[in-house]
Amino acid sequence: MERDEELTSVAQAAVRLIEALGIAVPPGGSLTVAGTGIRAITQLTVESLAAMAGAEVLLHVIGDPTQEDAIKAINPVAETLTMYYGEGLERTHTYEAMVQHILAEVMAGKRVVAAFYGHPGVCTYPTHESVRRARAAGLPARMLPAVSAEDCLFADLGVDPEDGGCHSYEATDFVFRRRLIDPLAHLLLWQVGTLGNWTYESNGYDLSSFPNLVDRLARAYPPSHPVTIYEAPFAPTGVARALRVPITSLRAEQMTPASTLYIPPVPPDTSPSIW
Ligand SMILES: C[S@@+](CC[C@H](N)C(=O)[O-])C[C@H]1O[C@@H](n2cnc3c(N)ncnc32)[C@H](O)[C@@H]1O
Repeated sequence: MERDEELTSVAQAAVRLIEALGIAVPPGGSLTVAGTGIRAITQLTVESLAAMAGAEVLLHVIGDPTQEDAIKAINPVAETLTMYYGEGLERTHTYEAMVQHILAEVMAGKRVVAAFYGHPGVCTYPTHESVRRARAAGLPARMLPAVSAEDCLFADLGVDPEDGGCHSYEATDFVFRRRLIDPLAHLLLWQVGTLGNWTYESNGYDLSSFPNLVDRLARAYPPSHPVTIYEAPFAPTGVARALRVPITSLRAEQMTPASTLYIPPVPPDTSPSIW
């Protein structure tokens, strides 16, 4: 069986499961924001599946296009919102168009589900904004939690954020707002592969500001401190990409738009005076 067909049959089996459980879905004129997880279909929670299967309007932004048929198997009304990404267009315009599309359906009295990949509330402006605007208009709106890239990273790299604490920053914000670093805590940097870019570019991003990121890290950590460029697999049977390099060997070319950078704490007995 081809991978797309396998995903579709997993999605169909999942729909049968939520039908058997009889999970209630909200009435019309409502918004549910759901997340589809990172690994296609297999990381969907049962409550997200129930909401998606019971939607009158199912709008989605899924990272991996091979999942689109499987989403249609969950609910044939599914439609993508990715047409709002335009070459060279500022992402804020794209997000506003998505919010307006979602809200128009909710205001029309439909039971709407907006499904985004990963956790829908992590590093995803249009989901939070849609919930805010629906509630401001007096309509019921909720967000269902889901598996984010960070959750996959904790599992794949064996990181416990409680062990020393964890800072999580958007990479451009981290560099240009000079966010604080605690070298004794875990540090996660999101969107390192689009650093310094506010527009959507399907043919690659200009990462000329990447040395600023390396410079900031090199001032806070020993130069040989190992960091990991991490990408969780989108395919259910895929394996994670985890490239471990010293800070001074970090290069823009090693990044993709799906990369998250993980910087482990320095060992607690390491004195800052030695670097
Ligand atoms: C717009 S944010 C979306 C995050 C998503 N909502 C989540 O819960 O993971 C995009 C960023 O998430 C991270 N990301 C997305 N997919 C990833 C993957 N497969 N592995 C690692 N990080 C990923 C990267 O930092 C990427 O630049």
